Amino acid sequence: METQTPALSSQIDQLRIEALSAIAEASDALALKEARVRYLGKTGSVSLLSEGMRTLSKEERPVMGKLLNDLRTTVTAALDEKESVLTIQADAAALASIDTSLPGTAPGAGSLHPLTLLVDRAVQIFRRLGFAIADGPDIESEWHCFDALNTPADHPARNEQDTFYLPDGRLLRTHTSSIQIRTMVANPPPIRIIAPGAAYRRDEVDATHLAQFTQMEGLYVAPSVSLADLKGTIEFFFRELFGAGTEIRFRPHFFPFTEPSYEIDLRTEALGGKWMELAGCGMVDPAVFEEVNKKRGDNAYDPEKVSGFAFGFGLDRLAMNLTGVSDIRMLTENDLRFLSRFTA
Ligand code: DAH
Repeated sequence: METQTPALSSQIDQLRIEALSAIAEASDALALKEARVRYLGKTGSVSLLSEGMRTLSKEERPVMGKLLNDLRTTVTAALDEKESVLTIQADAAALASIDTSLPGTAPGAGSLHPLTLLVDRAVQIFRRLGFAIADGPDIESEWHCFDALNTPADHPARNEQDTFYLPDGRLLRTHTSSIQIRTMVANPPPIRIIAPGAAYRRDEVDATHLAQFTQMEGLYVAPSVSLADLKGTIEFFFRELFGAGTEIRFRPHFFPFTEPSYEIDLRTEALGGKWMELAGCGMVDPAVFEEVNKKRGDNAYDPEKVSGFAFGFGLDRLAMNLTGVSDIRMLTENDLRFLSRFTA
């Protein structure tokens, strides 16, 4: 029988040359994919050639089988290599079209709210004078918010039009002064605390009013605390906050829970050099100590043995003046154009 080997093997050579040059010429992924199908696909040229094996003699088959296998391996390797070259080229082309000189989008670092920054500064200053931080609930009992603070039932602050009452009789605290009571009921003297926190009033929200605002309460109770201690503490605080040139003025006033009571005005170049009303303060009224003693069931706050001063600031107004905004709502609206000015 006449051997077919020479014919087949020259077909294999021919196909190798053709396939390798087609692969070399493929200029993109699509052309390469077509070449892969054309040569290695089920009905591709290499597969068709393999079918010719059936007509070969027993001796010829292994020889031709090996040649065909080599062909398949060579073509596969050439296709794979070309594919990775084309991928690298495509990536490089994509990167080349990126303008690295354009400004990027920096992730926003965020910052503390101006009110938080003010509270932090205030807390730091009072810490140096030995004041600890005290806390209390925003939803408060009438007793803690008013009765214990010597505020009678017919006082205007307790009016339903001015205060948020809950159906069970509790209320959103109208001032942080309730924390004075909570602290004294829970701890015997000496007490030296500040308490920053939210307070609520049924106010129409406008440029100078919020229904929720921020206060900072202070209380110092010990044997023989005097009005001079109060004045010294307040002056030290505001001079630390606004500078040595800051002037403080105490104006006689009335609060049910202090006697005598004062309003504090402040004048500083840092806030435009005008007098501004800032806080209430006074010497703790003995009636408050008596209420606390009743609740405690002891005489720890004996008005004959201890005395104290208390004060309360509105922090929103201070923050407004420090940030130079004329509308208090800016402090609650989360407008990043405003807040981002305070990014450290
Ligand atoms: N609680 C008062 C208010 O909200 C402020 C205040 C006045 C607090 C005098 C005090 C104080 O501790 O002694 O208007």
